[in-house]
Amino acid sequence: MALRRILHYPDPVLKEKSLPVTEFNDELKQLADDMVETMYDAPGVGLAAPQVGELKRLIVLDCSAKDEPDDLIVAVNPEIVSGEGESVEEEGCLSVPGYWACVKRYGKAKMRYQDVEGNTHEREAEGLLAVGMQHEIDHLEGVLFVDRLSPLKRSMFKKKYMKMLQEREAVHEA
Ligand code: NI
Repeated sequence: MALRRILHYPDPVLKEKSLPVTEFNDELKQLADDMVETMYDAPGVGLAAPQVGELKRLIVLDCSAKDEPDDLIVAVNPEIVSGEGESVEEEGCLSVPGYWACVKRYGKAKMRYQDVEGNTHEREAEGLLAVGMQHEIDHLEGVLFVDRLSPLKRSMFKKKYMKMLQEREAVHEA
């Protein structure tokens, strides 16, 4: 297993659409293992393959609470097959460090996906996991949570984030 470098906004790869996985081989399992390790190390509750520069439809999630057992989901070719209700929760993203904002999503969602062997599963969830599934699948379409903000909030985000990036670079150059 190895840690992968997480791409940050505004890296253009994050805007790309990922391709379906057709081969369930060792390379896929290696990538999934690396993503799980990278997610836990960050630490984060979800990670999508394009965030580590691989344009493949693969996500990993663990939205369990601290006092609960792990609930690791490795989902290949995931899709939301049904959703209902509405939830507005504050979200963040390992590719947009230091920024959080409320996003409107389904409150309850059902995801269909394959495991690394190619077997099909379904998982129904609400709360944080439902939000996580929708957030990570968005990544496979090249959509970040900040793309779902209102135009005004989005332009505020851009200004704030770019300023933050410049400050970080200034620290590095100093
Ligand atoms: Ni994200």
